[in-house]
Amino acid sequence: MKAVVLEKYGGVEELRIMSVPDPKPEAQELLIKVHSTALNRADILQRMGLYPAPPSKYEIPGLEFAGTVKDMGSEVTGFSIGDQVMGIVTSGAYAELLTVHHRQVMVIPESLNMQQAAAIPEAWLTAYDALVDKGGLQKHQTCLIHAGASGVGTAAIQIAKRLEAKVAITASEAKIVSCMDLGADQGIDYRKEDFVEVVETWTNGNGVNIIIDLVGGSYLQQNVKAISTKGIIVQVGLMGSGKPELDLGTLLRKRITLIGTVLRSRSLEEKTALTQNFSNHLLSEFDSQFETVIDSVFPFESIAEAHTRMENNLNTGKIIIDIA
Ligand SMILES: NC(=O)c1ccc[n+]([C@@H]2O[C@H](COP(=O)([O-])OP(=O)(O)OC[C@H]3O[C@@H](n4cnc5c(N)ncnc54)[C@H](OP(=O)(O)O)[C@@H]3O)[C@@H](O)[C@H]2O)c1
Repeated sequence: MKAVVLEKYGGVEELRIMSVPDPKPEAQELLIKVHSTALNRADILQRMGLYPAPPSKYEIPGLEFAGTVKDMGSEVTGFSIGDQVMGIVTSGAYAELLTVHHRQVMVIPESLNMQQAAAIPEAWLTAYDALVDKGGLQKHQTCLIHAGASGVGTAAIQIAKRLEAKVAITASEAKIVSCMDLGADQGIDYRKEDFVEVVETWTNGNGVNIIIDLVGGSYLQQNVKAISTKGIIVQVGLMGSGKPELDLGTLLRKRITLIGTVLRSRSLEEKTALTQNFSNHLLSEFDSQFETVIDSVFPFESIAEAHTRMENNLNTGKIIIDIA
């Protein structure tokens, strides 16, 4: 099969497509013919050597896929050859074929094509986990979603609105309108406005119940100011700069919960539980309410350009790579 193999870490020139042996499914695994994958910030860090994947003979990046079942191991039940599925993987989705445990995949809703499906797994599972499992977001609560126009942010806005919560987002000016179109109630241009001040006015001085933070760095101290008493801050990403400082006095006084989370290092059981919860509760909403937000689609051969687009923060929503 053809795959992007990282032989060295570095710039986009290290994203070279090569021929490597086809993977073989283990007893509980599906062999997937990948139609589309999508980029994640972690792919850029991995390419630079800053986010290592589990060791393997060929280091193939890529955390999510949409494709069809081509073969399966002897213990797999409930799937047929040709089924259209999507899911997260620990690595290996920048390839024509991959293997994945059968309990870790989701059936693609009928109304979606492969590109739309590839936009779902990583962003929507992360957003669902952060808002619902970690944050416990309830109807009429308020939440602040940083980097609202990111893949994770655009999913989080829609999930929070589906739960009938009130949503504020931070984004650069040009991207705020897309977030409002998805249902955000309050947009904050973080380059010109102080999000703590906007949140204070927006919540009548109460602070938001939940913050989903993809930025970190100097945002931590600001988040502690913007959160309500007994609020929950879920730290999902670390795109920002600045040294995090934390006013522990305020943390104690407000009885704040600060939670860190990643998907990749979770056990199969944890990934399966998250995938199945999300499928049972929200997957059917893609046939009616939810919108996959696709920034752009690149052919496999142009994967370096796609990385450059993400590195330059030009995307709103997901960057898709068509493999077949
Ligand atoms: N914990 C997990 O399991 C998990 C899973 C998926 C993703 N993540 C993390 O979530 C974050 C978002 O990932 P993604 O793939 O959704 O990103 P993405 O689609 O590439 O979007 C990132 C956007 O964030 C904004 N941004 C970038 N740097 C920023 C900064 N310093 N301050 C404020 N905003 C900034 C930019 O939009 P503006 O133009 O609006 O600034 C940028 O376009 C990443 O840190 C990623 O590693 C974590």
